[in-house]
Amino acid sequence: MKVLVVGGGGREHAIIRKIKENPTVEQIFALPGNGGIAADATCVGIAATDVPAIVAFAKEQQVDYVVVAPDDPLVLGCVDALSAEGFPCFGPNAAAAAIEGSKVFSKNLMKKYGIPTAAYEVFTEEAAAVEYLKTAPMPTVIKADGLALGKGVIIAQNFEEAAEAVHSMMSDKVFGKSGDQIVIEEFLTGPEVSVLAFTDGITVKPMVSSMDHKRAGDNDTGLNTGGMGTVAPNPYYTDAIAKECMETIFLPTMNAMNAEGRTFKGCLYFGLMLTPNGPKVIEYNCRFGDPETQVVLPLLESDLLTIMQAVTSQTLSETEVKFADKHACCVIMASKGYPTKYDKGFEITIPEEIAKNVFVAGAAIKDGKLVTSGGRVLGATAIADTLGDAIKDAYGLVEKIHFDNAYYRHDIGARAMQAAGEEK
Ligand code: AMP
Ligand code: GLY
Repeated sequence: MKVLVVGGGGREHAIIRKIKENPTVEQIFALPGNGGIAADATCVGIAATDVPAIVAFAKEQQVDYVVVAPDDPLVLGCVDALSAEGFPCFGPNAAAAAIEGSKVFSKNLMKKYGIPTAAYEVFTEEAAAVEYLKTAPMPTVIKADGLALGKGVIIAQNFEEAAEAVHSMMSDKVFGKSGDQIVIEEFLTGPEVSVLAFTDGITVKPMVSSMDHKRAGDNDTGLNTGGMGTVAPNPYYTDAIAKECMETIFLPTMNAMNAEGRTFKGCLYFGLMLTPNGPKVIEYNCRFGDPETQVVLPLLESDLLTIMQAVTSQTLSETEVKFADKHACCVIMASKGYPTKYDKGFEITIPEEIAKNVFVAGAAIKDGKLVTSGGRVLGATAIADTLGDAIKDAYGLVEKIHFDNAYYRHDIGARAMQAAGEEK
């Protein structure tokens, strides 16, 4: 089989490594991939958002299966365009990808179908939003409607901060058209859990839970990032909570999307907060999370491509999705200065014997050498029988990897260790 994977980050590297384990796979193309992915797939310089070029490439190479991994091509209708040409795909169509592409859509969906989430109001006019904020409880949460590279969420501590956030989104258009509509919602508290789930619109099979570390600095300080590290499973996510989430969130979401004529087929990401009033949805993503995928897929014992094909053919109920009873930790090594300004072009050295533990996100090949080309450069993932060992081993990997200006958090998994300790 010839498989095409759209995307080029650490998530795509983890997906490609897993797909490679399937014995029927002869060749994997990555569009555009990256310098590190090039060790595992044929990288072709087509942007993940260039839907017509992706379709043309799929035709030219007569690929047998396509995985569309990032949010923007999904929201742009990449799966619709490929399906129209007869290519079997993994990923939702544009109508279903709206669950991530529009916060207004997803909030209204949850309200309509009684899925637990933060209380909210939608605004299309700045003046009305500011008027509302005058009596809103603080802190409050302001969200741009559309995709904003994970930066469209502002937690405001007081009226001034909130009004400024609304102004920057609605008048200054810092997120472009994504700020034409905004959601102002209730500030929730509690541990956060990421649950990625395979769904074909008939069955939902959740993957092992995980915990992201979004802030740039140790002890959850500094700016929000795409994610600085992950552990799986998430110790806060007990079997009882998993059962509750299946009944109150996962199945109701799948059914709601079916009822709206937007059947979701692919990986549905539930960003949950375990509040004192039960689990609530903070956000949906229409795709695998990154860096969650870098701890979740290495724990998957079943064959990924087989599961993906079962999602496409809506036979997921008959397909095994099994995870190892182990722990994983991924530490992201970034360029110093990320998520704002950083330098690129530094040579990366990864000892051969640990290359299989490394998923490359932001690297290019220059003069035959692997060099940094992005903010998040790579993720180092270790698997062990205990969480403590997985964390220790992941940091052991980090010590063996070198590039100038490397930056990483030192406390990935620390909160999970604390939670696991409290549980005992
Ligand atoms: P996002 O960029 O959508 O992943 O959101 C970034 C982060 O903002 C989430 O991981 C939460 O920590 C936080 N957040 C979003 N919505 C809320 C809320 N209603 N209450 C408290 N925190 C929130
Ligand atoms: N790690 C969060 C995300 O992928 O959006």
